Amino acid sequence: MKKQATADGSDTLISDLFGESYHSKHGAITESNHVFIQAGLLPFLEKNTKIKILEIGFGTGLNALLTILATEGANSGVHYVAYEYYPITAKEASLLNYPTHLQYPQSAAFLSSIHESEWSVPINITPNFVLEKRQETFEDLSDVESYDLIYMDAFAPTAQPSYWEVPFVTQLAISLKPGGVLVTYCAKGSFKRALKEAGFDVEGLPGPPGKREMTRAQKR
Ligand SMILES: C[S@@+](CC[C@H](N)C(=O)[O-])C[C@H]1O[C@@H](n2cnc3c(N)ncnc32)[C@H](O)[C@@H]1O
Repeated sequence: MKKQATADGSDTLISDLFGESYHSKHGAITESNHVFIQAGLLPFLEKNTKIKILEIGFGTGLNALLTILATEGANSGVHYVAYEYYPITAKEASLLNYPTHLQYPQSAAFLSSIHESEWSVPINITPNFVLEKRQETFEDLSDVESYDLIYMDAFAPTAQPSYWEVPFVTQLAISLKPGGVLVTYCAKGSFKRALKEAGFDVEGLPGPPGKREMTRAQKR
């Protein structure tokens, strides 16, 4: 796995297996914050205190870390389920510079806790954040009406087309509670059509730097 700096100074990784970057080269933290936290997590928490999140592609743990920081000290309870079949090593995780960029005293401790936490069991990382990492492939997802919010963060359709097509998108819809929301950086036309076919109302939102649009979709 190769580490690379992105435009906001935060690191990303380049996958040996897929040859793909884990984040936008225009800014890893900027992108994750824009797409998943600002467009997904925060609007939900304005109206609710408890949330169950599904992440498709745990990767560096950046989305999980930003979710912890966004809910730390708040009166909220997060259950965060993340699928990752090819976990990065503890050493790779320890070299990521997110804690320096986030300037939150406990970020380094949170980042190592989320990477060191046991797989397949729910673990309290903080009193209000439970992490359940599953080292399974995305195809293994079989939860029904379990989640309020999905962070859809598979590699792009050019690298992993099947996860942006109707059969898998339908599985994502099944895993969401009615009214649940999916957010993703991807705004490809065929993916938005697949979302509609799978039962979502689809909304295009301004994307993070370097991307005109991102997608938020709500299960009908
Ligand atoms: C775009 S990266 C995710 C970035 C991540 N959310 C982060 O904050 O760093 C996609 C992730 O999906 C994982 N992945 C790819 N194919 C997978 C599969 N079939 N099942 C489970 N995980 C997979 C990759 O190993 C990679 O970590």
